[in-house]
Amino acid sequence: MQFKDGQILHSDNVFKAHSVKFVNAVTDSIELLDQPEKLKKVLNELGSLHEQKNIPISGFTMFGNAFIATIQQILDRECSIEIINFFSLFYNEGTNLMVEGYKNVNKSRPSMYNKVKDNSSN
Ligand code: HEM
Repeated sequence: MQFKDGQILHSDNVFKAHSVKFVNAVTDSIELLDQPEKLKKVLNELGSLHEQKNIPISGFTMFGNAFIATIQQILDRECSIEIINFFSLFYNEGTNLMVEGYKNVNKSRPSMYNKVKDNSSN
């Protein structure tokens, strides 16, 4: 996966390995939903690690869109707006906690969840 402002996930193998780490992080986060303080700490630290790897915050929005598109594709006709809203909210809140761990950047970014809600009311 490559960005205009720099190469980040530079090969298919790195991308595939990261996809496994991403899915594991999603699973771990779901398991920590009943321990919000621990979840916050873990995701703040994960965000900090991404800052050290020079991952721009805009990358989370792009990655999130791919995540939601993948869920839609896998669930196909079983996919409802409620499921999409749940995962969008979950991803958005999770990445907000990751972004909290960034220390040296402008943290503002568009909310994916609001975008989904806006689309559903059209
Ligand atoms: C919600 C979104 C994301 C999650 C949950 C996530 C999760 C993770 C995890 C669990 C690791 C391993 C951390 C460790 O070694 O302790 C990692 C590393 C890394 N992530 Fe992410 N990541 C996300 C988004 C991104 C994005 C958007 C990029 C850039 C396109 C990215 C690039 C990297 C890189 C370069 C590493 C270090 C190399 C590696 O371990 O694969 N991540 N990420």
